[in-house]
Amino acid sequence: MTTASIIDGKAFAETLRARVADAAASFAQQAGRNAGLAVVLVGEDPASQVYVRNKGRQTLACGMESFEHKLPADAPEADLLALVEQLNGDPAVDGILVQLPLPRHMDEAKVIAALNPDKDVDGFHVVNVGRLATGAPGFVPCTPLGCVMLLKDQLGSLSGLDAVVIGRSNIVGKPMAQLLLAESCTVTVAHSRTRDLADVVRRADIVVAAVGRPEMVRGDWLKPGATVIDVGINRVPAAEDGKSRLVGDVDFASASAVAGAITPVPGGVGPMTIAVLLRNTIVAAHRNMG
Ligand code: GUN
Repeated sequence: MTTASIIDGKAFAETLRARVADAAASFAQQAGRNAGLAVVLVGEDPASQVYVRNKGRQTLACGMESFEHKLPADAPEADLLALVEQLNGDPAVDGILVQLPLPRHMDEAKVIAALNPDKDVDGFHVVNVGRLATGAPGFVPCTPLGCVMLLKDQLGSLSGLDAVVIGRSNIVGKPMAQLLLAESCTVTVAHSRTRDLADVVRRADIVVAAVGRPEMVRGDWLKPGATVIDVGINRVPAAEDGKSRLVGDVDFASASAVAGAITPVPGGVGPMTIAVLLRNTIVAAHRNMG
């Protein structure tokens, strides 16, 4: 039995991309060139290749330039650092994204530190992490920013609500907690060492699950009426037909009977990430013009 409203991230992302396309057209008129996003892919990870292809296609569809740079998996780190330096200095490039994960012989922190923070549309550079923590304007990681957009669209003001973020990654959990704090939520960050996780989650008006554990959060963990944002994308083998299927970190069947609103997987948070990336890129272009 489903009682929860289904939060349609796919539709929201389409609306956001249309707004980005309008902003990109007005940028092009003022600047005399299209805004540009450079995406760097090192190696041949199949999932990363799919993401990079989708990013390129959606960038062009919004009226922006897409610059794709591919390096072999065994490229020296110095080659990647030199490419980042070149993109930092390229006036046609407004945003730079280095697809993660990088091959093991590369130091991700060092590569991210080499980015010009004002072109770091992923919001991973320590300068942007610090800006988010102190409330200064900067770039915010795309997935958590997309989650907050969905929450505000669903709930209006988040002020005073109890929020639990499950997961403490630099890409999702930590920036998510900062964003919810900035919206005046009372924020708890839970993780693999948290005791009595179900009891912690049961206090929450907002639950954001970003742990990468298939269907871990169950309906009987939730406060009735809670808003549930499922960041997980897990491929699990299906028993009946042998085909794999995508599931989130939340057990949708039981959770949707208790929650007030919930994001599905797929079609919830997933489509928001690239839409927010394009939004960050047009923001970068406008900011760097002045
Ligand atoms: N790999 C998985 N998600 C992301 C992301 O948001 N940005 C980058 N750069 N790499 C990723």
